[in-house]
Amino acid sequence: MQTHEIRRRFLDHFVRAGHTEVPSASLILADPNLLFVNAGMVQFVPYFLGQQTPPYARATSVQKCVRTLDIENVGITTRHNTFFQMAGNFSFGDYFKREAISLAWTLLTAPVADGGYGFDPERLWVTVYLDDDEAERMWLEIGVPSERIQRRGMADNYWSMGIPGPCGPCSEIYFDRGPEFGVEGGPEADEDRYIEIWNLVFMQNERGQGRGKDDFEILGPLPKQNIDTGMGVERVAFLLQGVENVYETDLLRPIIDKAEELTGRSYGVEHADDVRFRVIADHARTAAMLIADGVNPGNDGRGYVLRRLLRRIVRSARLLGAEKPVMAEFMRIVSDLMAPSYPELATDLRRIETVAVGEETAFLKTLNTGSTLFDNTAAAVKAEGGRTIPGTDAFTLHDTYGFPIDLTLEMAAEAGLAVDEDGFRTLMAEQRKRAKEDAQARKHAHADLTIYKELVDRGATEFTGFDELTSEATVLALIIDGVRAPVASQGQDVEVILDRSPLYAESGGQIADRGTITASGVKLRVDDVQKIAKTLWVHKATVEQGQITEGDAVLAQADQAWRNGATQGHSGTHMVHAALRQVLGPNAVQAGSLNKPGYLRFDFNWQGQLSDRQKADIEAVSNDAVGANFPVNTFVTDLPDAKRMGALALFGENYGDEVRVVEIGGPFSMELCGGTHVRHSSQIGPITLLGESSVGSGIRRVEAFVGLDSYRYLAKERALLAGVASSLKVPSDEVPARVEQLVERLKVAEKELERTKTAAVLASAASFVDKAERIGSVLLVAVAAPEGVPAGDLRTLATDIRGRFGAEPAVVVLLGDVDGKVPFVVTVNKPAQELGFKAGDLVSSFGSSIAGRGGGKPEMAQGAGSDPTGIAAGLAAVRARVAESAG
Ligand code: ALA
Repeated sequence: MQTHEIRRRFLDHFVRAGHTEVPSASLILADPNLLFVNAGMVQFVPYFLGQQTPPYARATSVQKCVRTLDIENVGITTRHNTFFQMAGNFSFGDYFKREAISLAWTLLTAPVADGGYGFDPERLWVTVYLDDDEAERMWLEIGVPSERIQRRGMADNYWSMGIPGPCGPCSEIYFDRGPEFGVEGGPEADEDRYIEIWNLVFMQNERGQGRGKDDFEILGPLPKQNIDTGMGVERVAFLLQGVENVYETDLLRPIIDKAEELTGRSYGVEHADDVRFRVIADHARTAAMLIADGVNPGNDGRGYVLRRLLRRIVRSARLLGAEKPVMAEFMRIVSDLMAPSYPELATDLRRIETVAVGEETAFLKTLNTGSTLFDNTAAAVKAEGGRTIPGTDAFTLHDTYGFPIDLTLEMAAEAGLAVDEDGFRTLMAEQRKRAKEDAQARKHAHADLTIYKELVDRGATEFTGFDELTSEATVLALIIDGVRAPVASQGQDVEVILDRSPLYAESGGQIADRGTITASGVKLRVDDVQKIAKTLWVHKATVEQGQITEGDAVLAQADQAWRNGATQGHSGTHMVHAALRQVLGPNAVQAGSLNKPGYLRFDFNWQGQLSDRQKADIEAVSNDAVGANFPVNTFVTDLPDAKRMGALALFGENYGDEVRVVEIGGPFSMELCGGTHVRHSSQIGPITLLGESSVGSGIRRVEAFVGLDSYRYLAKERALLAGVASSLKVPSDEVPARVEQLVERLKVAEKELERTKTAAVLASAASFVDKAERIGSVLLVAVAAPEGVPAGDLRTLATDIRGRFGAEPAVVVLLGDVDGKVPFVVTVNKPAQELGFKAGDLVSSFGSSIAGRGGGKPEMAQGAGSDPTGIAAGLAAVRARVAESAG
């Protein structure tokens, strides 16, 4: 049975049993505790905790999941994948154990012809939590004999998300693959032979902080008893497809085949190669799914995980013998395989490919730089007669160049060297500890949203701000320091919930409105407005006058100038987005934006810098669209309809059933957007592009001023230019020519100055000869050069002085003093060299005094130090050395 079919049957089975089919949530949910969605229940957490009322009592979904705890072990074993699909059924205070057990059993064992999976019931085993007699009894009743029911402890049969949240005892269903795969004795004895396929969690408690799977506090019961189950779609697939493991299934094996084709190596021959093939198959799929949900490669958090996955693909392919880039091909095959269940992988393929290939290109470059670093390190180790690459170098290769340790090990082995793995691991452990502390810090950001539940349930705040800036409203609730309060008085900071509000709550990149809430004798200043559960407007305000009470009739008012500015910024963003796509093509996909009064910022996927020409074109196209005075139309429709019309949506965003479309200039710009907009494009005012920069791998940012801020910016620039013109005493349009002329003249003057200085220095050569000291048979000039003489002139000067001694043995040592550095030159003439003096050797006598290094030939040595306070001591040291040798 194909994987897509397994998913379909699951959902159909539960829909028939009264469940609502809920689409998979994005892999990225706005929960600071979770890197990625890692279980089917994550999108339902507020329902389990009782923070929100679910719109259905029963739900079913197939959720995209990513777990990346041990990326290093992927492929070494065949049981775990970083990406997997978890099929689940959920009851929110509706049915409990008995029905969950029976629904799961029916689907697993019903014949294929009847819509089931057709598992042989004789080969299914189950586990229950230690004291869960009830669950055991139900399994016995359904027909599972007691010898195939095992009891297990908290680590195996008590489930939580690994962080505070809902939890409960669970019961797991296993499939016995048969004696050729391991020993008898059920899952307790061998989890390779007995494969876990389904976990039924009886979600009834809430857990607190703690560690691991069995070391946490249970805070108490949840408001209701719930069901959360998770069936591993990929595991069921490999069992039903009669193959050895997940990598042989219909959704992964073709990626391995593609890798064979690209590398020329074969799967199933050598274990080391097989691991690489499996890494490619697993990571390529995960990377594509992450990029589809809006993750971009980066240096921390989610971006770093994606970066590691992509780099491991590149490296594995190289180690398998690939010489050319491989990423585009892998992204394409993943898209072909996954699109039947996740159509966005096909529609977004260009973007997915661009992001992944961008990272590949960058890594291939660092791979080359890293290889050079490796070669140098290896050469240095060998030159010193060593046999081991130090742990610090292995760590730098890993940390800075993205070299996994096995790559370093392999390259070291080729060079006949070992690697100090212990040292490397110590540094890695330290780094991991830092990362863990970061994660710990994130956990404390966990906000308690229960306080808003009742208010969210009461219904959405009516947003009146598309039509008016002042609305009458009623105060539904006041919250002070996280607690409901009946009244808020002058000077207090308070969160105000109204039944309706014209103030825009921050979303879609548009900043929240500022404004006021007033009543007779009462005034609150609103500085921020945030949405809870996408529907409840929370006004963060300060009482400036009087006191406000729950139930008050008030007037809520958005600050008009602020709103106008933010609106211009937001509409301007749509113009710039459309212009970017017109100039750069459809690959310039939005990655984020910010609209403030008078200013916009727009991030998009793009490799490499924009040229001046492209920037000018983008600015021209945006301003032409402003000038065209396009009418702005907004309307509400459903998502498929909006997509059909070609409206642009933001990746990774979960849209509801109804979406709002903002259309400016017909096909010119059409986006899904909940923001406020001008009525005609000319109201945006001029758009001035400020610049363009990189904000991480493959993401560029443009910033612009709009409206009067554009004017102010240009006026300032004009004033600057006028100032320059007046200083140069030319009209503005002659400034460039004049500046060019001045720069040219300056260059000539600097050269002239240089020559004069050198001449002066050389003229002083004779005075240095007078300072020569006779030590034994040699003449020594060891002096501090006049301050500021550059290193180049120092050498000329030293050569000149040396020349003045003719056939007398002479040594000249000059120590300079330039900007805190001590450039030096030592030169020894032929007769002195014959006496055994060598310039290079003399450097060692004073090097440490000036914290310097350098070297050269017997005749001439030079270098630099960094401690001018040691000049006198250095000169004394040279004298002593010469005296020693001459005496
Ligand atoms: N939430 C449960 C799991 O992830 C079903 O195993």
